[in-house]
Amino acid sequence: MDKKVKRIGVLTSGGDAPGMNPAIRAVARSCKFYDIECIGIRRGYSGLINGDVLPLDDQSVNGLLIRGGTILYTARCSEFQTEEGLARAARSSKYIGLDGIIAIGGDGTIRGAGDLANCGVPVISIPASIDNDIGCTEYSIGFDTACNTAIEAIDRLRDTMQSHERCSVVEVMGKRAGHIATYVGIAVGATSVLVPEHELDLDGDVIEMIRRARLSGRTHYMIIVAEGVGSAVEIAQYVKDHTGMDPRVTVLGHIQRGGTPTARDRVTASRMGNYAVRCFVEGKANRAVVTHKGEITDIDILEAVKMERGLQESMVECLNTLTGTR
Ligand code: F6P
Repeated sequence: MDKKVKRIGVLTSGGDAPGMNPAIRAVARSCKFYDIECIGIRRGYSGLINGDVLPLDDQSVNGLLIRGGTILYTARCSEFQTEEGLARAARSSKYIGLDGIIAIGGDGTIRGAGDLANCGVPVISIPASIDNDIGCTEYSIGFDTACNTAIEAIDRLRDTMQSHERCSVVEVMGKRAGHIATYVGIAVGATSVLVPEHELDLDGDVIEMIRRARLSGRTHYMIIVAEGVGSAVEIAQYVKDHTGMDPRVTVLGHIQRGGTPTARDRVTASRMGNYAVRCFVEGKANRAVVTHKGEITDIDILEAVKMERGLQESMVECLNTLTGTR
């Protein structure tokens, strides 16, 4: 084994995602395996700037597989986005004696890791975001748990909507991306799914869909709205004004960001955490850990930050077919 790397830092940044803790655990355990010192950096890039660190030994990561959130805390750091803040972070990394940093988080975190790489700090990023909207990877840690949480809540809503023959307007997370809404929409058999990637047409996408569902014998209706589309309350009002129904609004919000990670998120996080450490052990740096065609692999971090990802065509086609959208 090439043992140039002696001390690795790990941080979580941006919105938390279920699976971040198992990823931290995997990094710490893999470091121990390869005889590398593992340092936890608290509060993301802000903690790096301020030298807010703690040693992560084997014991400190006990029990993390089943815990949502992140024991390292997370933050969105505006100072890090300035030239001066970035330089401070790079200096601090040297001062702490880090041979490399593993940054776990969403697209902002990966961009930050790219900036550090440009300043000469060796980095590896791990994708974690419930939104699953990180350009460079097919899958981001946390998405599966968030979808399952939303699905469980919506299944409960359906019972009461069905009993009262009502319409439900449910807002799921996703400011810029409709991955959660699309996936959940298929899983719960939504009447209509509204995503920020498509121009909003309330008459065509909601009122007409309710009308068709009614004609085919359905007596309750489930409208799934991604957060970035607009106000669920206003959409419900539009439905009321145009159908005479009295819809109920549920905003699932941050409930989707918490909870024990699913098997998929535990395993993906464990594999990615281990993979990231192995990258450093093998002498690689400035890489983004990603999934590609279902496999975990790594790509250049500066290429990774340029990549964009839209909704999966086949997923949208399936949803449209099952809802009867033309
Ligand atoms: O983590 C992604 C996300 O959940 C988005 O879907 C949402 O818009 C955003 O984070 C909200 O984050 P916060 O409330 O932490 O600012």
